[in-house]
Amino acid sequence: MYEVIDTDVLIIGAGGAGCRAAIEASNYNVNVILVSKELLGKAHTCMAEGGYNAALGNVDPADNWEVHFKDTVIGGAWLNDQRLVEILVKEAPDRIFDLEEYGAVFDRTPDGRIAQRMFGKQTYRRTCYAADRTGLEIMVTLVEEVRRRDVNVIEEAFVMDLLTKGGEVVGAVAIDVKSGSFLTFRAKATVLATGGAGRVYKVTTNAAQDAGDGYAIGYRAGARLIDMEMVQFHPTGMVWPESARGKLVTESVRGEGGILYNVHKERFMRRYAPKELELAGRDVVARGVATEIVEGRGTPRGGVYLDVSHLSASLIEERLPTMLRQFLDVGVDIRKEPMEVSPTAHHFMGGLMVDEEARTTLKRLYAAGEVTGGVHGGNRLGGNALADTQVFGKRAGEGAAKCALESTPPSIDRAQVEEAVNRALRVLNRKEGVRPSELRAKLADLMWNNVGIFRTEAGLKEAITEIERMKERDVPRLYVMGKGLRYNKEWIEALEAENMVTVAEMVAKAALMREESRGAHYRLDFPRPDDKWFINIVVERELGEMSFKTVPVALTRLRPS
Ligand code: FUM
Repeated sequence: MYEVIDTDVLIIGAGGAGCRAAIEASNYNVNVILVSKELLGKAHTCMAEGGYNAALGNVDPADNWEVHFKDTVIGGAWLNDQRLVEILVKEAPDRIFDLEEYGAVFDRTPDGRIAQRMFGKQTYRRTCYAADRTGLEIMVTLVEEVRRRDVNVIEEAFVMDLLTKGGEVVGAVAIDVKSGSFLTFRAKATVLATGGAGRVYKVTTNAAQDAGDGYAIGYRAGARLIDMEMVQFHPTGMVWPESARGKLVTESVRGEGGILYNVHKERFMRRYAPKELELAGRDVVARGVATEIVEGRGTPRGGVYLDVSHLSASLIEERLPTMLRQFLDVGVDIRKEPMEVSPTAHHFMGGLMVDEEARTTLKRLYAAGEVTGGVHGGNRLGGNALADTQVFGKRAGEGAAKCALESTPPSIDRAQVEEAVNRALRVLNRKEGVRPSELRAKLADLMWNNVGIFRTEAGLKEAITEIERMKERDVPRLYVMGKGLRYNKEWIEALEAENMVTVAEMVAKAALMREESRGAHYRLDFPRPDDKWFINIVVERELGEMSFKTVPVALTRLRPS
């Protein structure tokens, strides 16, 4: 009844991590299918502006992987899996050299080496960059490399669910958005690289496709996830116009010397981080900005000022051209006047648990990039995400290819395919109920207001009650106006909405459980870290229910003193 597409390696998600995994897997003489939700290249990785952390020591020779390790773990509020951090910091340099080999061009020092700039909470200038469009440079390069390889790219396909057999992942079911037909993949090994879930929040830097599909898909298949309460709010997103609200204003602005002021022209970071000021950890700066706004010292539009007008026009034009253009487009010349900024949901530190080889807790399933948890602990350092995509993207591609080489083709369970197909068709066939835009807007407001930068028991409980109501009452009634199959975006949005409700439930419940403040998770009712919570929260599906437990943090090299 359904055509089955066979492959050795199936890679779901075509951003920085997915493309890197595909490139690596293609080195092993295996069939590789790369499924992209959008056209290839239109990935959220493009929107990463500021840079890629690698302890090259090009600008500050004292830098090395050990300092990078320490900065990452301290920045992560000690919740990181140190085994993963060690791999990240040791391999980030080689992976940026791979990118150069594929053709990426990064800014240079006067003596021709890769230039490095300062980013928050880092001891040295470590962040490699291509002006303020580093992610775009990397993405364009990876796409060209993927195209040079023997990789079968399937564009504009939405993966609904993984297929499992006896606890192993054996493929996936997807909708080809172009035709509306269903695709069934049978794979010897699968990589999830679907990115984050910023879109569950009303204000976000994330691209429209970042609906948390991978978290929900992995969860439904039985994988374990870790640290889902840890959501990073970037301190500086655009405030206006409304259509641009939340759009990233890169940390490079502060790295290059940008200063934050409140409406009274006070450099307010002196209050929150007197030494590190604007380059304190993102959690600290985001809370500082939010506090100024909440306490009435924000701008009339609800932001604070971020100013670079004291820097030379040539520096701004050379190092921050995207920012210059982004604000000129709305009539603000940042060479002469300040930007208005406020916090915006940016990155999920939590995600699928992986080991050093990028294996998830399910056999034959690998994962890399933002869909995974553990690398960044409670708070990611700016610049570590792009490095993460390359380091663990390579490892996931390699692991999946080797797994495929050792495996025979698995069999798939038709009933699971039919279940996924019927779930999608029910949405399409329903004549009335809840529109996805309605549910998504309600959820995004709720998450922003109750599960945002500042959290309380009462707010979280209210959110959980409402999310459970959405799950029971609204998700089963999702319907779409257009019944056509081709490019029926509302249909996909409805299926994404179901995933978003699952992700929201994980975040809110883990946030309620963690009765302390640590990293990006801040509880007004428990405003300090508590040693009894120096553990990771793990979530998985057990007997159809969302179940939480705690596990010790993987401390291999450093312990908090
Ligand atoms: O601010 C930025 O450019 C973002 C970088 C990151 O999140 O790594």
